[in-house]
Amino acid sequence: MLPASTSLAASASVELNALVADIQLLPEGYGPTSIWGFDGTAPGPEIRLAQGSRLQRRLVNSLPEPTSIHWHGVRIDNAMDGVSGLTQNAVPSGETFEYDFVVRDAGTYWYHAHNKSFEQVARGLSGALIIEEPDEVDVDREEVLILDDWLLDPDTAQIVGDFAAPHAMSHGGRIGNYITTNSVYNLALDARQNERLRLRLINASNARIFPLRLDGLQGWTVALDGMPLVKPLPITDTIVLGPAQRIDLIVDVVASEGETAHVVHLGQGDAFSQVAFEVRAGGAVKRRGVPSPLPPNALSMVDLGKARAMSLTMEGGAMGGLRSATLGGDSKSIGEIVDAGRFWAFNGAADGMDGPAFAELSQGEHVRIAIANDTVFPHAMHLHGMHFYEIGNDGNLGALRDTTLIERGDTREIAFVADNPGKWLLHCHMLSHAASGMSTWIDVA
Ligand code: C2O
Ligand code: CU
Repeated sequence: MLPASTSLAASASVELNALVADIQLLPEGYGPTSIWGFDGTAPGPEIRLAQGSRLQRRLVNSLPEPTSIHWHGVRIDNAMDGVSGLTQNAVPSGETFEYDFVVRDAGTYWYHAHNKSFEQVARGLSGALIIEEPDEVDVDREEVLILDDWLLDPDTAQIVGDFAAPHAMSHGGRIGNYITTNSVYNLALDARQNERLRLRLINASNARIFPLRLDGLQGWTVALDGMPLVKPLPITDTIVLGPAQRIDLIVDVVASEGETAHVVHLGQGDAFSQVAFEVRAGGAVKRRGVPSPLPPNALSMVDLGKARAMSLTMEGGAMGGLRSATLGGDSKSIGEIVDAGRFWAFNGAADGMDGPAFAELSQGEHVRIAIANDTVFPHAMHLHGMHFYEIGNDGNLGALRDTTLIERGDTREIAFVADNPGKWLLHCHMLSHAASGMSTWIDVA
């Protein structure tokens, strides 16, 4: 039974009101943009809690259609996971739903609508969820930077409405024409020389992969998808942030007073400033030493030797050569699949939501899944409810993640302990892909 929404105003929780609202998204001179946002803002309000505490929010749905909230990356009770149609019914307009769960892990997470996500997230329904470590991290300050893109009509300043456009679904997903940080174009912040910043980067876009470089900033990667690295990793190269991924950096401002440091977005050909840090007077004379690692979260270690091995082959899309797949239990031609609005298949099924991808996993079982990207597009595969280790080319356990970016033609193996019971979605976080064949789920019982 799915938990029902309530119309009672009985609990003490804070409201999170999903609203239609106007915000000034384009620069002054353009008109306001009508968005859907939590509390009428985009990004929604930052939710910040201490590790181990309870998150309590009453979703109030003031939108013209049903919605739900998913707490991306949180190892959560299944009933609170917010997946409409799998873990709860979508909350109808005018109704409410109580989210109430304990946040076990510190780190950088985010929350977003999970009903028709390809439309509702594109309209603005997302926000940062920050879970703080018990002890303060040794930095001067931190910045939460939500990277996003919007598909806007510059004449009207409105969001382009064809969310289910077949071209976006069958190609790289819905890509915006207006790139923002915290909904600001060319965000500029103040900084001081040798100031130490913790940057929490969140990719909230529908489908854009952000390749980033630091200029006038030097530092370390300290966490991926919320989970601390064992050792801070010096940043020497391009940082790639796929849809839904997060990265925590500790950086020092090495640019001098009067200069500007940047998080640079490496676009196709034209690099531009994603975030600028204008270096003001009053810096420190010296840089600090190497930071300590963030304290680890308590996750089960996988024993690859006893892990059950499974595979998931991703096929389809434009130029993908998919000829047939199952839909509603029957084998269908590619033409019939496309007529049904599907362009992709997982293990030969274009309707992976009809049943779990694999035979039931028993709670505590160790598993490894080889995910093969047999398409000509990259995909950002996300598992709900449990973080997984990426398995490196050396066959060893790599970083813990909840979303893994798999380039065309590549296979990525992931491994995890199935220690969280329930039905957990496994899907591409290019949200147009998720809506057109790239969604399935696993069942941990
Ligand atoms: Cu970020 Cu299925 O979600
Ligand atoms: Cu995809």
